[in-house]
Amino acid sequence: MPVHTLPSTFLMLLAVWSVLVPSLSHPQPIPCQMIQRMALCNNGRLPHVPVGLPYNTDELQLNHNHIQTLLNNSLLHYSSLYTLSLAGNHLEKIEANAFGDSHPLQILNLAENKLHVGYQDTSHALLQLPQLRVLDLSQNELEDDMVFHLLQNLTSLQYLNLSRNLIQRLDESSFEGLPQLRELDLHSNMLFEIDGAFSGNPKLQRLNLAFNYLPCLIDFHMTQLVVLNASHNFIEWFVALQERNETFHLETLDLTDNKLLFFPFLPSQSRLRNIYLSHNSVRFYGGLVDNATGENWTTSVQFYNLNGNLSNVTAQLWDDSLFGDVSSVEILDLRDNQVEYFPQGFISQMQSLTRLQMHTNCLKTLNLTSAGFSSSLYALDVSNNRLSEVIAEKGALAALGNLTYLNMSLNSLRWLPSGLFSSVESLRSVDLSYNSMGICPSETRGEDKDSPSDCVVWRNMASLRQLYLRGCGIKGMPPSAFAGMRLTHLELSDNPGLRVETGFLQALTGTLQHLGLGKTDMQAVDFSPFHRLRYLNISRNSLTHLPKSLLNLDLRMLDASDNNLSTISPGHAASLAPKLRIVFLAGNPFNCCQMEWYRMFETTTTVNMVDHTEILCQDEAKITYRAGVLSILCGDSSRESVFWYLLLILFVFLLFVGIQTICVLTFRPLMLQKTVKKKSVKPTSY
Ligand SMILES: *[C@@H]1O[C@H](CO)[C@@H](O)[C@H](O)[C@H]1NC(C)=O
Ligand SMILES: *[C@@H]1O[C@H](CO)[C@@H](O)[C@H](O)[C@H]1NC(C)=O
Ligand SMILES: *[C@@H]1O[C@H](CO)[C@@H](O)[C@H](O)[C@H]1NC(C)=O
Ligand SMILES: *[C@@H]1O[C@H](CO)[C@@H](O)[C@H](O)[C@H]1NC(C)=O
Ligand SMILES: *[C@@H]1O[C@H](CO)[C@@H](O)[C@H](O)[C@H]1NC(C)=O
Ligand SMILES: *[C@@H]1O[C@H](CO)[C@@H](O)[C@H](O)[C@H]1NC(C)=O
Ligand SMILES: *[C@@H]1O[C@H](CO)[C@@H](O)[C@H](O)[C@H]1NC(C)=O
Ligand SMILES: *[C@@H]1O[C@H](CO)[C@@H](O)[C@H](O)[C@H]1NC(C)=O
Ligand SMILES: *[C@@H]1O[C@H](CO)[C@@H](O)[C@H](O)[C@H]1NC(C)=O
Ligand SMILES: *[C@@H]1O[C@H](CO)[C@@H](O)[C@H](O)[C@H]1NC(C)=O
Ligand SMILES: *[C@@H]1O[C@H](CO)[C@@H](O)[C@H](O)[C@H]1NC(C)=O
Ligand SMILES: *[C@@H]1O[C@H](CO)[C@@H](O)[C@H](O)[C@H]1NC(C)=O
Repeated sequence: MPVHTLPSTFLMLLAVWSVLVPSLSHPQPIPCQMIQRMALCNNGRLPHVPVGLPYNTDELQLNHNHIQTLLNNSLLHYSSLYTLSLAGNHLEKIEANAFGDSHPLQILNLAENKLHVGYQDTSHALLQLPQLRVLDLSQNELEDDMVFHLLQNLTSLQYLNLSRNLIQRLDESSFEGLPQLRELDLHSNMLFEIDGAFSGNPKLQRLNLAFNYLPCLIDFHMTQLVVLNASHNFIEWFVALQERNETFHLETLDLTDNKLLFFPFLPSQSRLRNIYLSHNSVRFYGGLVDNATGENWTTSVQFYNLNGNLSNVTAQLWDDSLFGDVSSVEILDLRDNQVEYFPQGFISQMQSLTRLQMHTNCLKTLNLTSAGFSSSLYALDVSNNRLSEVIAEKGALAALGNLTYLNMSLNSLRWLPSGLFSSVESLRSVDLSYNSMGICPSETRGEDKDSPSDCVVWRNMASLRQLYLRGCGIKGMPPSAFAGMRLTHLELSDNPGLRVETGFLQALTGTLQHLGLGKTDMQAVDFSPFHRLRYLNISRNSLTHLPKSLLNLDLRMLDASDNNLSTISPGHAASLAPKLRIVFLAGNPFNCCQMEWYRMFETTTTVNMVDHTEILCQDEAKITYRAGVLSILCGDSSRESVFWYLLLILFVFLLFVGIQTICVLTFRPLMLQKTVKKKSVKPTSY
């Protein structure tokens, strides 16, 4: 409909004209891109706010320019601004009248500037923004009193970012004028004290205090808070006010990387779902305290603040039974702590627990029966502890109906309850690496499920997909060890003497994608039926050649390092190169004269020879070279070249001798003459 489109085109032209006219009257064009009513003027080296933008612009982005001062008249024409972003300028101050009176601005980003220089003027300017909701002041070298000035009477502020400044101490007055505040980011400051700082912010839900110098969080009574991040501080004590007869709204508590010695003293009523405590020194002390002497142990801790005010916190320090309300906890991360045991009732209180991460602690025994895990448990990681015993009765195992991921690697297990794995129906991944556990031979079928056994029957565990048995000291494997299984991942590396044969893995030919056979004294295994195999580790096996059966597979990753390979035949290399993505081949005594495979892998851009700088080869004279650095002369043609090589050396040698002779003759004629003279001066006898 050309008749109808004409007027709209005309209108558009008019609009463009109205944008252009003011700019034409100015020497430089507007360095901004307009998208509807938003002006994008980022990364433009602008020294001022550009003039000539449409009056009704509602968003102005001026990030990463060279604006030092926001002048009284800078925004004179833009009275409809809703969002202004000035991050990454050299902004030192905003003049007091820059926003005029009662400006409608709601979102102001001033991150990465130098507002510590002119914070007084700036604070006056901010007073003109009664509707400001979002303010980013991060990375401005602001100190305590500057912040206090800047934040006065920002009564509508909901979101405030003060991260990466130089704030050391907060008190009741710091944020008292911000009744609407919901989210506050204070990470990466120098905070060591936050005395009652948030009592005037009844709506604060998310508080980030990460990367500061806080030594403790005591008398914690912020019932309104939903997320508290106090990770990466120096916190030794977290004590919530216990007397409160009120439910805390806290759902996520992050105390990662602190100095906690005790499990946090949590509120007695809370909705805590995620507790992150990794990298602390948490342990339980109840087991240490003898009832007889324990009564006289101190139970109160006193904290003083900078003003000398005393907080006297009483907590049942040595009593294991007091953990506050953990009934809603779903994730508990206790990695890298000092936990030796779970106190009675500790686990069973967490009726919603899905993930328990205990990697790197000091657990010695795991009594699954007494711990009382809930049926919602999904992942249990007790790797790298000191476990020598796992105890479980049939009933307890059957209750773990949702356990899917179990990691017990790096312990000292020698015995496990016979039915441990087969009773847990949804188990998909088991890691038993670096324990001493064999695979049961077919005769002893480990039927008595309660008695401990030093080997595991894996057969017929249909739910299991990933099985890791690295370094378990497995010496022998019954032929039908994996019958009835549908494993996609099988890791058997570091079991020297295992001598895997094709027959052992027969049951897995249709499913296996990832197979680890490094250092297993692997024999000639026929890989050709494993048509799903993508990842294969056959390193450290003294192999003299790559198994031919690999060639038809669609391998993505091959680790054949530390074997006895002298070459990979060009035909094999040609069929592997198009499929492989990652290959490890260092630690083999390759023959420098048969390195066509190397060049083939090197020129195939999709192949990443991860350790290529460490691939070495030897020439016929047993001299070792870095493959890829030298192109060595080899074979029949090489003998010929060696001949020419020697001839060249001889020629250079003769040339050298010749030049020297000429030098002696030309530059030392006198010496020669002298000798001749001397000789001739000698008195003759006649
Ligand atoms: C900006 O306005 C404020 C308040 O009206 C005034 O005190 C100040 O002198 C003005 N700055 C300049 C450079 O005119
Ligand atoms: C902030 O508001 C209070 C109460 O409305 C008022 O007394 C005070 O003067 C204001 N502060 C500034 C710096 O305007
Ligand atoms: C606050 O600012 C910092 C640095 O500018 C940024 O990394 C962080 O994501 C911001 N915080 C939030 C909650 O957006
Ligand atoms: C806490 O803050 C740190 C650092 O900013 C961050 O890495 C971590 O993910 C945060 N934790 C949560 C639970 O958001
Ligand atoms: C706590 O609240 C409950 C019910 O809301 C009430 O029964 C109980 O007496 C209160 N306890 C205290 C110490 O206030
Ligand atoms: C301490 O006493 C309680 C009951 O009074 C008892 O259950 C517990 O085993 C005793 N602990 C020690 C270490 O004796
Ligand atoms: C506890 O302290 C009191 C007073 O100092 C002392 O009489 C008592 O024997 C102590 N109790 C124990 C079990 O050591
Ligand atoms: C803490 O000290 C301040 C200043 O010295 C005082 O105003 C306040 O009342 C004290 N608070 C307590 C709880 O003692
Ligand atoms: C601290 O609290 C404990 C237990 O309530 C009390 O025995 C002690 O006297 C208190 N200390 C101070 C200094 O208030
Ligand atoms: C494991 O816990 C159960 C239940 O509390 C208990 O009966 C059993 O004796 C415990 N086993 C060991 C070896 O402590
Ligand atoms: C088991 O896990 C599934 C999926 O994560 C979940 O939907 C189900 O509620 C869980 N069962 C129990 C008893 O928690
Ligand atoms: C089990 O834990 C160990 C040590 O923390 C880790 O290296 C390994 O990757 C984990 N296994 C699985 C299957 O995630």
